[in-house]
Amino acid sequence: MNQSAVGSLVPRQAPGSYGLPFVSAIRDRLDFYYFQGEAKYFESRVEKHGSTVLRINVPPGPFMARDPRVVAVLDAKSFPVLFDVDKVEKKNLFTGTYMPSTSLTGGFRVCSYLDPSEPTHAKVKQLLFSLLASRKDAVIPAFRSHFSSLLATVESQLVLAGKSNFNTLNDFTSFEFIADAYFGVLPSASDLGTTGPTKAAKWLIFQLHPLVTFGLPLILEEPLLHTVLLPPIFVSGDYKALYKYFYAAATKALDMAESLGLNRDEACHNLLFATVFNSYGGLKVMLPGILGRIAEAGEKFHQRLAAEVRTAVAEAGGKVTIEALEKMELTKSAVWEALRLEPPVKFQYGRAKADMNIESHDAVFAVKKGEMLFGYQPCATKDPRVFGSTAREFVGDRFVGEGSKLLQYVYWSNGRETESPSVDNKQCPGKNLVVLVGRLLVAEMFLRYDTFTADVGVDLLGPKVEFTGVTKATSGPGA
Ligand code: HEM
Repeated sequence: MNQSAVGSLVPRQAPGSYGLPFVSAIRDRLDFYYFQGEAKYFESRVEKHGSTVLRINVPPGPFMARDPRVVAVLDAKSFPVLFDVDKVEKKNLFTGTYMPSTSLTGGFRVCSYLDPSEPTHAKVKQLLFSLLASRKDAVIPAFRSHFSSLLATVESQLVLAGKSNFNTLNDFTSFEFIADAYFGVLPSASDLGTTGPTKAAKWLIFQLHPLVTFGLPLILEEPLLHTVLLPPIFVSGDYKALYKYFYAAATKALDMAESLGLNRDEACHNLLFATVFNSYGGLKVMLPGILGRIAEAGEKFHQRLAAEVRTAVAEAGGKVTIEALEKMELTKSAVWEALRLEPPVKFQYGRAKADMNIESHDAVFAVKKGEMLFGYQPCATKDPRVFGSTAREFVGDRFVGEGSKLLQYVYWSNGRETESPSVDNKQCPGKNLVVLVGRLLVAEMFLRYDTFTADVGVDLLGPKVEFTGVTKATSGPGA
């Protein structure tokens, strides 16, 4: 349908039904985790109702979420309503229809749970912008040092065992890297020793268990993971140890926080959350996602990346610089394409601030004030009406040249890739850093290798990548 014609349609009710209270929400949860799986859960309902805007239940449902009912927006056109903070309230819905106990965050509602209308939101977000700006020169050297040593380990594991699990190595390396980049103090050199990533993972699980499955039998997982929140007391020792590291390592950032009018303790819980949950949690999922897609793209694509990366680095005098990375059009496109296909944070929520209309490609839907809107991002960013017949495929050069017009439909950061985070919106403040780190991974790989192979599978929160072979660079600065 012609786009301007859609706007003139009479708004109607979104199709779909929530079923019986309680019983249907549990039945839907089982579909989501065990009988259908996440993607099929949404796709089958879109197909059944012939609409990409529809009413469904979302997990976890009883007893953790008071109300599992949402209006789902599952196409590229309707999804961005979730970014519009004039239309949706973003209070306490970072994890969706349930909220983890604030005992897991020092008793504070940290930035991710704050609506921009709350004064602390702007202060904390400004703190993060200032921290990232103050450490911008530390990122590239820290990344290169931590990830070149990761790749050296990959090489020795390949010699010894013929394979090397990237996720396991990345879990340790990303933790060290991100803390080093932000604070210049290695967690492994603090009292945390090498326990940081394990403590972090445990703390993340206490917040995210309602949304994951470990692949165990339903009879075990339902009562353990999906029915009641795990008691925070069992992770409080780990959290205290992490907090101690942050309080000592982040002195400069905490001074900055005080000058912005934030209390030192609240700022420290926020820095911990932004580093461990937002940044580290994000990298745990994103880096295997990028690597896996590039592994599957094959040797010919690797040759093109290697040529581009090596030329740009050679032109920059053999150094990996921001300017050199900016010239790598194919590398940039490949990272965006991986983020489009595998957005590391797949669910977004927002509560309608007033009665409103939401447009899909084909229809207009009326939504009432107070209704919860929900987006499953992979449906929106694989919308064939925008990305055509290759919407579900990895097209490495999709965003090169004219293709950059499609960047407005890349939503991984809770905003369009063509827009910027600010203290007034809820777009990820790490947006530029995140794409930079993605590009750095690709550059590091192809400075070092001509090509590589890996088995790509599924892990707890995202893709799993196991290297099976690397071919050392035969030319260029890495050879
Ligand atoms: C918000 C994704 C890395 C800090 C968000 C949101 C998404 C997201 C989707 C919006 C959530 C919502 O409100 O529905 C990611 C991904 C990352 C990543 C995929 C990495 C792969 C980072 C980094 C930082 C960060 C490096 C470091 C500063 C935050 C914060 C918010 C946020 C503080 C809340 C923003 C606000 O309240 O306005 N991120 N993020 N994230 N992210 Fe990121």
